[in-house]
Amino acid sequence: MSFRLQPTPPARPNRCQLFGPGSNTKLFAKMAASSADVINLDLEDSVAPNDKAVARANVIQAINEVDWNTKTLSVRINSLDTPFWYRDVVDLLEQAGERLDQIMIPKVGNGADIYAVDALVTAIEAAKGRKKRIGFEVIIESAAGLVNVNDIAASSPRMQAMSLGAADYAASMGMQTTGIGGTQDNYYILHGDTRHYSDPWHWAQTAIVAACRTHGILPVDGPFGDFSDDEGYRAQARRSATLGMVGKWAIHPKQIALANEVFTPSDEAVSEAREILAAMEQAKARGEGATVYKGRLVDIASIKQAEVIVKQSEMIAG
Ligand code: COA
Ligand code: MG
Repeated sequence: MSFRLQPTPPARPNRCQLFGPGSNTKLFAKMAASSADVINLDLEDSVAPNDKAVARANVIQAINEVDWNTKTLSVRINSLDTPFWYRDVVDLLEQAGERLDQIMIPKVGNGADIYAVDALVTAIEAAKGRKKRIGFEVIIESAAGLVNVNDIAASSPRMQAMSLGAADYAASMGMQTTGIGGTQDNYYILHGDTRHYSDPWHWAQTAIVAACRTHGILPVDGPFGDFSDDEGYRAQARRSATLGMVGKWAIHPKQIALANEVFTPSDEAVSEAREILAAMEQAKARGEGATVYKGRLVDIASIKQAEVIVKQSEMIAG
């Protein structure tokens, strides 16, 4: 066990990250008026190569002119294997105002990717006298990204959040699926005649959560492609929340309420957590380190578990 305290991640709500293509200016005001905590204006894979320059200009104009209220405002730049990314960074940092909070770096493979972007961002911030330090969020969506996830999490003090990008991750891993997240028809075990479906994203998610928690970064679940399937989205989001993720992407506005519902601790969960804390206070007063709550053991570790839920709820409320 390490003597160092686990760092706390940024204390801001990150239940839903709403995406929209930078080429689709009609969406910007709707995104700003939505109830997503984080807005991701996209310059990457939802924008066709011929539209990259115009999308970049649109996004800079929208950052400067749209009222984004209290949302965390982020732009997904192009990946480091494209000819577009440096211009994304230079134009954003030189031309977008201080309202911009973060840039999202997709398809990161190792900590050196982040170092390269950090060097460019740091130089432009200094040259332009920018006051607010831009934060980074990244997408883990390749075999290399997952293998180096801890190195990536440790790569820069700018790191704020890390998402799993299921589609590119599946392609990079050679997975036999075209689905973006969720249950996969061929991923089951057979017990007698009954199929039990397992979760093919579980290992990647858990690796991301562990790297994020080690370095004080917010772990986030990425896109769920089938926006006609509310129950499928809920099920995926509930698994992610159970594993320690704090939010999930929305690629369509109807997914926002689903994410907010799942990643806001329920009233029942919060009151149970408060009851556990109260039971442990009473145990402590009796000089005991463990007690019984609703027929089950609670002890000093239960205090920390309950505090996760209470603190998350208070942070979202406040
Ligand atoms: N943000 C805000 N509003 C959105 C939206 C978004 N991402 N996507 C759609 N809307 C709006 C539409 O403009 C429409 O508004 P209206 O009722 O005022 O006309 C309404 O929500 C319903 O949209 P709908 O017709 O169901 O969808 P669509 O066919 O217009 O668009 C997508 C579907 C998937 C193309 C679109 O949602 C989209 O571009 N999503 C984001 C894709 C993306 O950014 N991907 C990168 C990350 S994986
Ligand atoms: Mg991707």
